[in-house]
Amino acid sequence: PKGWITLGIETSCDETAVSLVQDGRKVLSNMIASQIPEHRKFGGVVPEVASRYHLECIHQVVEEALTKSGKTLKDIHQIAVTYGPGLVGALLVGVAYGKAMAYALEVPLNGVHHIEGHLQANFIQYPELEPPLLALIVSGGHTHLIKMETYGHYEILGKTRDDAAGEAFDKISRALGLGYPGGPFIDEQAQKGNPEAILFPRALMEEDHYDFSFSGLKSAVLNYLNSCRMKNIEVSIPDVAASFQKAVVDVLVKKTMACAKDQGLSQILLSGGVAANSLLRNSLQEACKLQGKTFYVPEMSLCTDNAAMIACAGYHDYCLGYRSGWDLNAKASIPI
Ligand code: KG4
Repeated sequence: PKGWITLGIETSCDETAVSLVQDGRKVLSNMIASQIPEHRKFGGVVPEVASRYHLECIHQVVEEALTKSGKTLKDIHQIAVTYGPGLVGALLVGVAYGKAMAYALEVPLNGVHHIEGHLQANFIQYPELEPPLLALIVSGGHTHLIKMETYGHYEILGKTRDDAAGEAFDKISRALGLGYPGGPFIDEQAQKGNPEAILFPRALMEEDHYDFSFSGLKSAVLNYLNSCRMKNIEVSIPDVAASFQKAVVDVLVKKTMACAKDQGLSQILLSGGVAANSLLRNSLQEACKLQGKTFYVPEMSLCTDNAAMIACAGYHDYCLGYRSGWDLNAKASIPI
C-alpha cells in the first residue's frame, strides 16, 4: 500500500518511544522520552518505576510524534507495538495504548517482536538492503546472532547463555565506580587504556556453536579487582576497561564472522545499544572488509531502543499478512 503510515510504539524497557513511518522505511518522526536519569540513582532499571513513567508520558509522546510528523490521527493506517520480550509491566502500557488506538481509529494492529525491530532498524538506514543477512543484536537485555533468510523468516543461530553484552558493560562499570548505563563510560575509559594489560577470558571461543557467555568474564574482572584491593595494588581503570572491552569485542567479532562464513552470508548487520561501542563497530567493520563482507550499522538513534524500528517491522509483518487480535498481550519472553 503506497503512502501507508504506521504509528509505532515501544515501551519494552526504560524508553517511551513513538514514531510515524511511511511505507515502512521513511521516518516522519521518531520521539523518545528516556527515563535513564530516573533509574540512574538505583544503578539499573527498576521495572515498577519504568511502567509508571511510561504511563505518565506515553500520551504526550504520541502527541509530539504526530505534531512532528505533520500528520493527524486520521492519517494513520496501522498501529505497530512492541509486545515482547521485555519488562511485562512496561510492555503492557504500550500494548494497552496501541490496542486502544487501533480500536478507536479502526485500523489494523500488529504486535512486534522487539529483536525483530532492532534488526529492521537497518532497513530504515539502508532502504536498498534486502535479505539474506546475518544480524548481531547486542543490547542491555539481548545478545543474538540471527539469520534472516527472507522477510518474516528468522533463525537464532547464537545467543548468550547468561548475561547480555550490555549487561556485562553495565555491571563492570558499576564495579569500577563509573556511571550508569556503563557502556559509554567503559568505552571512554578504554580509549586511554591498554587492551593487552590484563588477559581476561574469552568464553566458548573454540566450540562449534555460536552461543555467547559473559558471566565468566564478569567474574574474572571482579576477582581481579578484589585481588588488587587485597594486595593493595593500585587498579588502572583505563587498563581494566580496555582489557574487558577487548575481551567482549573479540568474542562478538570472532563468532559473528565464523557464523557468516559457515552460513555463506555476505551481509552483516549490527544493532542494539552496544552497537555504539567504538571498538565493536571498528573491529566488525575491519573484519568484514578483510573477509569481503558488507557491513551495515544504523545511526545511533536507530540502534538504541526506538519506535521507528518497531513501525518498520510492523509494516513488513502487515505486508506478509500478519494481524494481531484484541487479545494481544505483553510477554516477557517470546521466540522470534
Ligand atoms: O538497546 P539499548 O538502548 O536498550 C536496552 O537494552 O534496553 O541498549 C542499552 C545498552 C546498555 O547496556 C549500555 O551500557 C549499552 O547499551 N551501551 C554501550 C555503549 N553505549 C551503550 N555498550 C558499550 N559501549 C558503548 N559505547
